[in-house]
Amino acid sequence: MSSKHYFLAATVMAAAGLLAHPASAADKVCQLAIAGNDLMQFDKKDLSVGADCTQIEVTLTHTGKLPAAAMGHDWVLVKTEDLNAVANAGAAAGLANNYLQPGDKRVIAATKVIGGGQSTSVSFPAAPLKKGQAYTYFCSFPGHNALMKGTFTIN
Ligand code: CO
Repeated sequence: MSSKHYFLAATVMAAAGLLAHPASAADKVCQLAIAGNDLMQFDKKDLSVGADCTQIEVTLTHTGKLPAAAMGHDWVLVKTEDLNAVANAGAAAGLANNYLQPGDKRVIAATKVIGGGQSTSVSFPAAPLKKGQAYTYFCSFPGHNALMKGTFTIN
């Protein structure tokens, strides 16, 4: 094989690797599930993952019957100190924006807003999350975070 061919082959292999995201021993996807209901409640008051997680997947299920416009739920993760500001900005953004200010950098992860009988999920890298930092998850539907919030901990 000429050096030119070797270079091309290596480039193609590297590109394929990037596209395929092959699992390595260092990857650890941590999956969490939470449900919301028609009584404006999450079924969990806290969630946690190990510090060895590289990717976090949260699945939200709406176990109620009411539509998203009346009793919408989403799952939004922020630093606890950012909760009120993100919730206030989100309330003004409307359902079309999933009650989050578009491009809000304070949002670490968020699902879309769903209604009764629906399910959704979000996957995000764990790297930005720090052990010892206080995180809160909440529903950004206006008024819901009075009841629909919980603590998120990196163990
Ligand atoms: Co809600």
